[in-house]
Amino acid sequence: MDGDRFPPSLRKVITDVLKQQPEKKIMCGIVGGVSNTNVIPILIDGLERLEYRGYDSAGVAAVTPEGISCLRRLGKIEVLREALEENPMSALAGIVHTRWATHGKPSEKNAHPHVSQAAIAVVHNGIIENHVALRAVLREKAYEFSSDTDTEVIAHLVNEQWKGGGSLLSAVQNAVQELEGAYSIAVISKNDPENIVAVRMKSPLVIGIGKNGNFVASDVSALISITNQFVYLEDGDVADIYQAHFVVYDKTGKKVERPIKVSDLSPEDVSRGGFLHFMQKEIHEQPDAVSRVLDGRVKDGKVLIEEAFGNKAAKIFARTEAVQIIACGTSHYSSLVARYWMEMESLADIPCHVDVASEWRYRNPRLHSRTLYVFISQSGETADTLACLNMVKEGKPEAHTITICNVPESSMTREAELTFLTKAGAEIGVASTKAFTTQLAALMLLTLALGRTRGMTAKKEAEVIVSLLTVPEKLREALLLDGELRLLAPGFGKKEHALYLGRGSEYPIALEGSLKMKEISYIHAEGYPAGELKHGPLALVNEEMPVIAVAPNDVLVEKLQSNLKEVRARNGQLFIFASPDVKIDLDEGTTVIALPRVDELVAPIVYVVPLQLLAYHVAVARGNNVDQPRNLAKSVTVE
Ligand code: AGP
Repeated sequence: MDGDRFPPSLRKVITDVLKQQPEKKIMCGIVGGVSNTNVIPILIDGLERLEYRGYDSAGVAAVTPEGISCLRRLGKIEVLREALEENPMSALAGIVHTRWATHGKPSEKNAHPHVSQAAIAVVHNGIIENHVALRAVLREKAYEFSSDTDTEVIAHLVNEQWKGGGSLLSAVQNAVQELEGAYSIAVISKNDPENIVAVRMKSPLVIGIGKNGNFVASDVSALISITNQFVYLEDGDVADIYQAHFVVYDKTGKKVERPIKVSDLSPEDVSRGGFLHFMQKEIHEQPDAVSRVLDGRVKDGKVLIEEAFGNKAAKIFARTEAVQIIACGTSHYSSLVARYWMEMESLADIPCHVDVASEWRYRNPRLHSRTLYVFISQSGETADTLACLNMVKEGKPEAHTITICNVPESSMTREAELTFLTKAGAEIGVASTKAFTTQLAALMLLTLALGRTRGMTAKKEAEVIVSLLTVPEKLREALLLDGELRLLAPGFGKKEHALYLGRGSEYPIALEGSLKMKEISYIHAEGYPAGELKHGPLALVNEEMPVIAVAPNDVLVEKLQSNLKEVRARNGQLFIFASPDVKIDLDEGTTVIALPRVDELVAPIVYVVPLQLLAYHVAVARGNNVDQPRNLAKSVTVE
């Protein structure tokens, strides 16, 4: 922020306050709309479809004959629903929100919407980086703050503009000029009972075109039961929304036409469909999801490069000399598997670096024009991964970028030069499952596509494709272990720690298995390359420590066996997830879970499934909220 815009008396305050950190929020959910019937039930239903994002409080504001009505509650949307039953609200225009706080307590006063002087109400997703400085300026103008949030400045800023006369639209357009940071917002005013204004800036927001009105939401799943027609706003867009029409203005204030896109998501995709949890449903969807990755992208033993990666891909792959993959969390672990494939002499035989986005972006990486930068993300909105993508685009415009992503029209699919859509369908459970296996299938196709330009034989390509095509069936076999793994869960659920071991491309599977276990069961679980055991973690092993090993039948299995003996010698309880071909010395402390027989190369795609199931059943046995584990949000859209 430019301090010279403020009176001298305020400059010191501004310098001091700029040193403070803004409140950070991750993946709040926004829904807003204008309808020809009472909009409140539509908005609350939509908000419930965003529950998967994780949140700690919820609120609603609407333009009623009495002016702005606002209700906020700490806790679940259910609590807000109860509050609405006691204080019914009926209006044509309204906004609702779920808040997920990382800084600034979860509390009713911090919940959205935030209201300025009973005239303007705002919901917001993102971070206003200069909120402290703006707060100081607004205080000077006698605005009072009743929350600790950055969002409240937006309500006051819009009000300040709006009080000067003019429309809600122009008030919002002027107010956002003052904001720095990432924000999607929806705003109502007490004088406009049939209008909302929404803005997108580095935080997703879509317009849903319904039969009885027009809506905005953080993502399409919120609105899929009322429409499949969406307009994806661009950064800087301001939308002026009414029941029968809407107008979009770009960041310069120019009226623009954004294309209407038809979503192929269905209301069933965002429902549990007879399963107890979304995660359970998504684990069981994996055979079909992986089939969709391959459908129309392989034929006659070959990857159809153009169909899979786009018509520029073949040229780009031909000039690629190295691969740099960047991702977070589960998507990072799928990249770690891919590194084994990419570097194999018989496959792509290409140098492949893999980094966690939040590390890579701050270590001043040297960018290379002949490196292919690969960004993997289920959501396509993860802030660190997206920032890395933009870093490459700005720092080395001649370098090529590709995203492997599950969400069409996400920020990453728009920003990357090439896109490979994983077509896994909506993933609602916070713990990623089908996103992982579909990413792996996609990464194998990318490996083969690169390999073809680097001397991989046609025979090898055809062999790998045959193996890949067996994966959906092998996944079905792996899912049959469900009952056996459920029986292990109660005993496992009493533990507080677990060690996961793997070797080679099963090492990232051990990492992913341990991530699943910790994020939904809250058991402290660590993944290690089995060979590292005696370099430290063996000290943790005693009769209380379950050790889970993934043992495919590959060249490393003998070495893994000796690692496992080290565990048994310390009385560690061994759970070996093994191919039927692996010979294991059984004793009373060793449990063997027989995995489907599958080609070693693609085994990681199949062998992760039993680990997902184990984590799922342990979380259920512990009575945890499987789909919305504590402290986590589905996708992390701010740093
Ligand atoms: C996985 O179970 C996690 N919830 C998390 O690690 C996730 O994979 C990570 O935040 C990356 O998300 P993305 O794939 O949407 O970028």
